Amino acid sequence: MDLSNWNLESELNVFESKLAAIDSHESWQALKLAYLGKKQGKITELLMSMRDVPKAQKPLIGKELNRLKKAVETQLGEHACAQASNKNLAPKIDLTLPGIKPAIGSLHPLTITRHRLINFFARLGYDVGEGPEIETAYYNFEALNTPESHPARDEADTFYIDEQRLLRTQTSGVQIRYMECHEPPFRMIAPGKVFRRDDDVTHSPMFHQLEGLVVGHDITFGHLKGTLQAFAQHLFGPQTKIRLRPSFFPFTEPSAELDVTCPFCETGCRVCKQTRWIEILGCGMVDPHVFEGVGYDPEKVSGFAFGMGIERIAMLSLGIPDIRLFYQNDRRFLDQFKSE
Ligand code: DAH
Repeated sequence: MDLSNWNLESELNVFESKLAAIDSHESWQALKLAYLGKKQGKITELLMSMRDVPKAQKPLIGKELNRLKKAVETQLGEHACAQASNKNLAPKIDLTLPGIKPAIGSLHPLTITRHRLINFFARLGYDVGEGPEIETAYYNFEALNTPESHPARDEADTFYIDEQRLLRTQTSGVQIRYMECHEPPFRMIAPGKVFRRDDDVTHSPMFHQLEGLVVGHDITFGHLKGTLQAFAQHLFGPQTKIRLRPSFFPFTEPSAELDVTCPFCETGCRVCKQTRWIEILGCGMVDPHVFEGVGYDPEKVSGFAFGMGIERIAMLSLGIPDIRLFYQNDRRFLDQFKSE
């Protein structure tokens, strides 16, 4: 074949018109063979004719032949793909089928409960304080009037990191941190994780507490009782009654535990152990020693504090029987608290 008058454009035009005329897989295969066939293919034939091209023209014509080969390969390939998607794939996509609904997450029951507690106290003007989970023995115990000899400091109950540092066993230490950098009067709560060497149906080595502290002038036990009454009725309904039982905490004097009437029964049940009362938190008037430690004058200010387990409140208000359910992340459990 004489390549002296050969022209890439017209060769491509011829190929493209043949490609456009293809109406079956057989004619596509025939065209492919006619152009790209190793022995008799058009392109092989053209490449063979390069032998007779004068040396000066060889680079240019060689380049053009390569472009032709590429263009033919590409267009044949694209044609085949277009056919495949028209004929085979398209009918398989049924746009009328219902889609797969993506699973949407929801708030964890502990998060829901924490939000409820924070919202209640925020509406009463409480600030939200924070403290570290790795705490010093000073903030977790000493400043809270809990000397070294106290049983709560025993290694059997507390995760110590070294002599002075530990995983906090209560959020009460945040009271001290908050008082160190605020002047009364104030109201604050501190929600957060705490850690204890404990593990059974109602105890987990990590759980959550919410601490509360109110300090001002002439704050009385009556203020504490009124606050807790409103809190209990907010959580468990307006029919809820409360009672305060004398108790002991090193950092409050007097101290008490708050019971509410059982939200599950009228006459006694398994949850309230037939007593009709359920304990929900510890509280008391801040001990003067604690005030002295942070530089407050106990003659001038007074205050009350309270602390509760968020898991316990969630179990009672949502009717959850086992604390371990909170941490297993079983979707069948968690999905029950979805609010849609
Ligand atoms: N920190 C106590 C506990 O972990 C709970 C508590 C009791 C906190 C009385 C207080 C309080 O602020 O006044 O058991």
